[in-house]
Amino acid sequence: MRFARRAERIEPFYVMEVAKAATQYAREFAHSGKPMIFLNIGEPDFTAPPLVQEAAAKAVRDGLTQYTHAMGLDKLRERISGWYAQRFGVDVPARRIVVTAGASAALQLACLALIEAGDEVLMPDPSYPCNRHFVSAAEGNAVLIPTTAAERYQLSAAKVQEHWGAKTRGVLLASPSNPTGTSIHPEELRRIHAFVQSKGGITLLDEIYLGLSYDETFGHTALGIDDQVISINSFSKYFNMTGWRLGWIVAPDPLVPVIERLAQNLFICPSTVSQHAALACFEPESIAEYERRRSEFRARRDFFIPALNGMGLSVPVMPDGAFYGWADCSKACEQWGVGSSWEFAFEVMKRAHVAVTPGRDFGTAETARFVRFSTANSMAQLQESAARLAAVLK
Ligand SMILES: Cc1ncc(COP(=O)(O)O)c(C=O)c1O
Repeated sequence: MRFARRAERIEPFYVMEVAKAATQYAREFAHSGKPMIFLNIGEPDFTAPPLVQEAAAKAVRDGLTQYTHAMGLDKLRERISGWYAQRFGVDVPARRIVVTAGASAALQLACLALIEAGDEVLMPDPSYPCNRHFVSAAEGNAVLIPTTAAERYQLSAAKVQEHWGAKTRGVLLASPSNPTGTSIHPEELRRIHAFVQSKGGITLLDEIYLGLSYDETFGHTALGIDDQVISINSFSKYFNMTGWRLGWIVAPDPLVPVIERLAQNLFICPSTVSQHAALACFEPESIAEYERRRSEFRARRDFFIPALNGMGLSVPVMPDGAFYGWADCSKACEQWGVGSSWEFAFEVMKRAHVAVTPGRDFGTAETARFVRFSTANSMAQLQESAARLAAVLK
């Protein structure tokens, strides 16, 4: 069978091999007194809070299961708009919000709407692998630009300018980022956006972790800069609804009907039950619970990142959001006589029974030296992991 070249260009997720091995080892270690701890998982360990669960059940009971408008329920778009006003003090009119099947569908729609075959999109290295694959699926080319700790692993205006070429269509940035949990400084983003605008390009922001921000300096939406910024968000992370497949895109006015047309044809609508459930996310009781959980994520970060630093798994930049720590494992590799973060990931699974994600999927620049720890796990499990890691790295 012959497959389309665009499909062949999508690389496999190497991390799945690590995840498979982790599951296998987990079975082996289950009765060892030291069962596997999974710090390789990129989703909250919390599930949707009670009001959201009840709203979903009620929607099913009431038979609210037909297709909705392709753009999503008007009421939900209004609630999302209200959240921007309340939490971020930014006026984002509901008419510019399109509800989608997760940030993934939103990114796909944005790329299909804006990228021509052969267009280049600038992204930081390291970054979330699917984002470059959305660009590839639209037959564009992701250009990964190596970043430094001093840049918080984000692009700078100078680098965007340096790498901007005849085929460049725009930038795709995730802030806070997966795998680093670090955000782009608002002033740097302003400069990048001004430059991109001067070139007639697009500034695409993946703000899926924005709700999980822990630092006043960085916890602002890029939508506050200009209404030409395109922002992607989701119910997956802050709202703890990964499997419900619900997200949204905020688009400049002229782009909205284009996204709508694509969404009608490609998806018909996002999940109706999930949309009715998501309405309850914005009730004061749910927001209070989400804020409590945000504090919990912050407390985990405050414990675990210094613990990693203390055992030589240095995290060069304290994450200001999300639930990741991007740790340099080169000292540990040397100590154990292993060549890269890939081998380190397998070794640490065997020695400490702790699963982590090697850097390989996130880029090429320094990823052989780095691993991603996820702190989306209970404080007790993080404490146990820290003790086990310290013991094997002594
Ligand atoms: C940076 C980033 N963008 C997008 C996504 C996709 O999220 P969703 O579940 O909303 O499709 C993820 C998921 O891990 C992510 O980390």
